[in-house]
Amino acid sequence: MMGRRGMWIDTDLGFDDIAAIAMVLASPDHQIAGVGLVAGNAPLDQVIRNAFGSSALFGWALDWHAGATAPLREKLVTADYVLGETGIRTAGRSLPVATGKLASGDAVAAMQEWLSTLPEGSGDILALGPLTNIAQLVSAGRFLDRIGRIVLMGGSTDRGNHTAAAEFNIAVDPEAADIVFSAGLRTEMVGLNACREVPVIADDVHWMRGFSGIAAQTMADMLEGYLSIRSADLSRPMPLFDPLAAAALVAPELVTLAPARVDVELEGRLTRGMTVCELRVPQRADANARVAVGADSDGVRRLLRAALQLAVSG
Ligand code: BDR
Ligand code: CA
Repeated sequence: MMGRRGMWIDTDLGFDDIAAIAMVLASPDHQIAGVGLVAGNAPLDQVIRNAFGSSALFGWALDWHAGATAPLREKLVTADYVLGETGIRTAGRSLPVATGKLASGDAVAAMQEWLSTLPEGSGDILALGPLTNIAQLVSAGRFLDRIGRIVLMGGSTDRGNHTAAAEFNIAVDPEAADIVFSAGLRTEMVGLNACREVPVIADDVHWMRGFSGIAAQTMADMLEGYLSIRSADLSRPMPLFDPLAAAALVAPELVTLAPARVDVELEGRLTRGMTVCELRVPQRADANARVAVGADSDGVRRLLRAALQLAVSG
């Protein structure tokens, strides 16, 4: 019998990152070898606090590795203006303040160590935050042949969210994204265009409130906080970001990918961090990635609910 496929997750631990991790943990076919932390939604110190808080609340026995505190070139811009200083908006309770021990303080070295133990093409990477750690791995150039797929939540084939042109994860560290897309690896981009097809709605919050216990009620508060990003009265659907990238790995039939040439805009006065996607390959350009162009919304939402339920009953 085949064993479970190894996966490394790299994350800036916002709420949707937590939901994505829950989705991978719920997969019978995947095993999380380690989780790298990166500054993004919040500064790295806060991301680490969110990691320990998640472990404490959900009973997650994950190996957390601290990574980059800042993007490769520019100063860190967080999402505190939307998410608050913890990086996780809430309608009530927050993750508990918990102590813990990092598995290491060097996420890139830990990824290399993991890759070094694997056969060629057999370890997948799920990137849910700015790509700083992943770019450092790529630049170091060691054991890259062991990587299967790099599936990242980031970018868009059309408009952005952090700016009109750029999605947050790519906008925070465009140089890192450029390194990853230029690496000649099997990179899959799950961007805003696809995420906008999969909504979180008020009924999801009510559904989660139906479970008892502190984990369920905290999850419901964070889910409500997430939905309130879109509208204070929770009437408007909020796109599901990082869990769609997780779905692309654990249930690939739910996400439609198309080959594309993705170039990251590094200069643009108004467009820095934009992912310029040419889907007319190979006529106009050689593909360097596959990009998500559609999602089975019902299927992903079913997977999400099953994963969240498992997380709060652990
Ligand atoms: C991305 O930005 C972060 O705030 C979310 O966790 C997601 O990874 C969406 O643009
Ligand atoms: Ca994220």
